[in-house]
This record gives sequence, structure tokens and C-alpha cells, in this order.
Amino acid sequence: MPSDKAGVFSFLPKVFKEDYIQDCWDLWMDEKNGRTYVAVLDGKHVGVIHVFVEYDYGWLEAIRIHPDYQRHGIGIQLSTMAMDFAKQCGAKRVRLSTSSANEKAQSQVKKMGFQELVRFARPFLENVSPVSAGKNSQKIEWGAIAKYIKKSECYKNSKGLYATDWRWKPLTEGAIKEFVSMGNFIVHGNNEIDGLLLYRDSLMLEKNTIEISFVDGTEEGIREVVKGLFSIASQEGKKIYGFVPNEPGIVEMAKKAGLDLVGRDMIVFEKALTGK
Ligand SMILES: CC(C)(COP(=O)(O)OP(=O)(O)OC[C@H]1O[C@@H](n2cnc3c(N)ncnc32)[C@H](O)[C@@H]1OP(=O)(O)O)[C@@H](O)C(=O)NCCC(=O)NCCS
Repeated sequence: MPSDKAGVFSFLPKVFKEDYIQDCWDLWMDEKNGRTYVAVLDGKHVGVIHVFVEYDYGWLEAIRIHPDYQRHGIGIQLSTMAMDFAKQCGAKRVRLSTSSANEKAQSQVKKMGFQELVRFARPFLENVSPVSAGKNSQKIEWGAIAKYIKKSECYKNSKGLYATDWRWKPLTEGAIKEFVSMGNFIVHGNNEIDGLLLYRDSLMLEKNTIEISFVDGTEEGIREVVKGLFSIASQEGKKIYGFVPNEPGIVEMAKKAGLDLVGRDMIVFEKALTGK
């Protein structure tokens, strides 16, 4: 209900000093494929969660319980409502992400039967100083990138997912086409691709930043595509953040290429929805 907005917004700063929920709330209210559930106790708003359904899964996010009301089962209740909505919409599974540092959230979702699906490492939000490398001008068909991704071990081990505004979505042919049509890719390699970085302008969560969505390649390839990204960011005056598949090799190469990783991963969890 619209009247929930003020109630939820009043307790959010008690959970996290800064949040993105305030920026998304109005969009969420207009969604056809999503719901926002709130918990109210004695007229006081004490919890919120958002869920939306796409492909064959429901994505749970933005769960916040007022600190004075945590560990009273409200998180599980709200998550259950969100999962029921996903099930009604025909979703076969539900997914969510949380930081490897967030033990409370991990413990809650494990208690509900979620299992770890994949991890992505996170670079620090970087202010990029000007670099001299030229802007990426490589012309490439989306099919060449799709072929490279299809064969990629890193893609397989990442369960075919890429990061977008703190959500993890399937890197489908449609998604690859979109990255290519927007010019949001950097490739390296002569006859064959040996480095690939997919990125996008972050729209909702981090202003004036470029988000790394997917990286793969050899040491040289990754070094060059990261250099290309630094170049674009410096020319456009943007910061960089994002997510790198947590493959030991990829993470090491990304670090060598100059991405400073925070040392905490984002973990994507999944739970199958079965029964009626
Ligand atoms: C994570 C969070 C949503 C859990 O909500 P909650 O209402 O407190 O959780 P519940 O009472 O439903 O807890 C269910 C289970 O989660 C686990 N859990 C919750 N809080 C815990 C804590 N402080 N320490 C250890 N386990 C905890 C336990 O397994 C608990 O079951 P138990 O109480 O029977 O042992 C809540 O702590 C919160 O709002 N945290 C801040 C916001 C946040 O981190 N959101 C997630 C971002 S991805």
C-alpha cells in the first residue's frame, strides 16, 4: 500500500545508514512481475522484502528487519511470502544474493534450505585516474562473443550468470546481444578472443559508475580488457565497481590487472520450489 512507504522508510536507516530501497520503491509499486511485502507489528513497520519473477526463477532482495525485531522469525515469514508469490507466478526456483560477510543473512537463508550456487568477487569502488590507453573501438559480431562465452569454463563455473545492479541474471544470447548493441563490451585478441569484459552503466544503485558484469580471458587478455575499462571510465569521469567470477585464476588475473578486490564475495543462493 502507498501508506507503507513512510513506515518502511522510517526504520530503514536503523538497519543500514545508506540504502537503495528508497530509490526503487516507486518503481516496485508499478511492477507487474514483482511484489513488495511489509511486516507491521502493533501499527509499526518492522520489515520489508522485495521479490520479482523472471525466466524460471523468483529473485528475493532488499530484506530488512528493524534491529529491535530481528530474530523473531519475521525474516523467514517475509521470505516465505515472497517465495509463495514466485511459486504462484510459475517460478521453478528462487534465488538471492548476500555478502560472504553477512553471517545473519547466510544463516537465515541456509535455515530455509537455500544452497550456495556461485560466488563473485567484488572490486572496491574505484576512482580511476586518467590513463592513456585508447577507447575500445573493436568491431565484433555478437555471435563471436557468444561463441567464446559458450566455450568458457568460467561461464560454466559461474552457472551462466552475470552481475547487474547486485542481481545475477542468466547470460543468455539476448543479454549478450544487448551488451554488444550498447557497445558495453571490451574484447582483446587477434584472430581469437582471449579477453572479454562486459560492463554497463549502473542505473539504480551506484550513481555515475560503471559496473563490471562479467570477465574472462587469459592473463594478457584480462590485463588488456581491464586497461580498456580504466580508459573508458577515466574518459567518462566514472567510478568502477562490479563483480568478477570467483574463479581462482580469474580473480588472480583481475588483481594483477589492477582491480583492487575487497576480499569479500557476493554469494548467490538458490532453492528449488517444489510441490503445488
Ligand atoms: C538477515 C535478517 C533479514 C534476518 O531476519 P530475522 O527476522 O532477524 O531472521 P529470523 O528471525 O527469521 O531468523 C531465522 C534464522 O536466521 C538465522 N539468524 C537470524 N539472525 C541471526 C543472528 N543474529 N545470528 C545467527 N543466526 C541468525 C537463525 O538461523 C535464525 O533461526 P533461529 O532464530 O531459530 O536460530 C535480519 O537480520 C536483517 O534485517 N539484517 C540486516 C539487513 C540484511 O543484512 N539483509 C540481508 C541483505 S542480503
